[in-house]
Amino acid sequence: MKNKVAVIGAGNVGASAALYVAERGLADVVLIDRPEMEGMPQGKALDMQQAAPLWHKGGTITGSSDLADVKGANVVIMTAGFPRKPGMSRSDLLKANADIIVPAAQAVKQHAPDAYVVVVTNPLDVMAWLFWKTTGFPKHRVLGMAGILDSARFRAFLAMELGVSGADIQAMVLGGHGDSMVPLPKYTTVGGISIADLVPADRLAAIIERTRGGGAEIVKLLKTGSAYYAPAMSAVEMAEAILTDQKRMVPCSVLLEGEYGLKSLFIGVPVLLGGKGVEKIVELKLDAADLAALQKSAKDVSDMIAELSGEPAKAS
Ligand SMILES: NC(=O)c1ccc[n+]([C@@H]2O[C@H](COP(=O)([O-])OP(=O)(O)OC[C@H]3O[C@@H](n4cnc5c(N)ncnc54)[C@H](O)[C@@H]3O)[C@@H](O)[C@H]2O)c1
Repeated sequence: MKNKVAVIGAGNVGASAALYVAERGLADVVLIDRPEMEGMPQGKALDMQQAAPLWHKGGTITGSSDLADVKGANVVIMTAGFPRKPGMSRSDLLKANADIIVPAAQAVKQHAPDAYVVVVTNPLDVMAWLFWKTTGFPKHRVLGMAGILDSARFRAFLAMELGVSGADIQAMVLGGHGDSMVPLPKYTTVGGISIADLVPADRLAAIIERTRGGGAEIVKLLKTGSAYYAPAMSAVEMAEAILTDQKRMVPCSVLLEGEYGLKSLFIGVPVLLGGKGVEKIVELKLDAADLAALQKSAKDVSDMIAELSGEPAKAS
């Protein structure tokens, strides 16, 4: 197979992403975890390789404990990192995951200098910024995954409400990944019909609230760990759009340089995603309330970037 996808972090999200890439026949996959976990990525990869004859797509899946094995990857999916644990402050999580992102980004810069990167590690927008900053890659080649997942959750809840296929629901969610995301009902349709014509306002408000807490609801149910099937599938949607030049119009966390009045940070906005990564950033005409919500979300991200970089916040 011509393309290669390297997945860094062979935990729940990473292993699921590797499986989806392989099962869709998108690329050869290497699944990498840290040396202390020697055997785990190799074992998971071998298990997937044994499933490969059953999905008739070919391709290889290998496990590795060496970041240098990102070599030759067209797309890197970065999933290594901790989820926030009880008792862990936001600053502790920032620092712990930054310590994982920086060496991974340095390895990608050295061994896969032409790769496109999809960052999944939380806190998402800040880790995507840090990956971009560390590699020095052009901004169209580093993206964070959040908006596709948040939109998918919104679509899933609307599909459950209406009893229709989620495939017929189009939705757009902007902003930072987390409580401050900005779902846009104005751009939400079911088979082309405005959502406002189909779902009463109070139900829609409740569904938006559920979407905001979509990750937390799963954490509560699982008791240990956090969501991974939908996050992994969302990252693979992005990898597929790049590998097969699909020209998708989807929300991704990308570097803004003045769009929406924001700069020097990563945040979720609609982009044209194709073979050259972020081919265009789409600037919607937001009403005052949505713009204010986006700016508030951006301030949260910008404050975290400032905390990490030791430089004052400069989002706008
Ligand atoms: N952006 C999103 O929407 C979204 C959604 C879900 C999860 N996440 C985030 O993704 C990350 C992974 O989640 P998960 O559920 O897969 O966690 P997990 O604990 O199951 O897996 C994380 C893996 O990373 C590995 N790892 C740690 N340091 C490493 C290093 N230096 N090099 C290589 N591998 C290393 C660990 O050994 C582990 O296998 C977390 O930060 C989580 O918060 C983000």
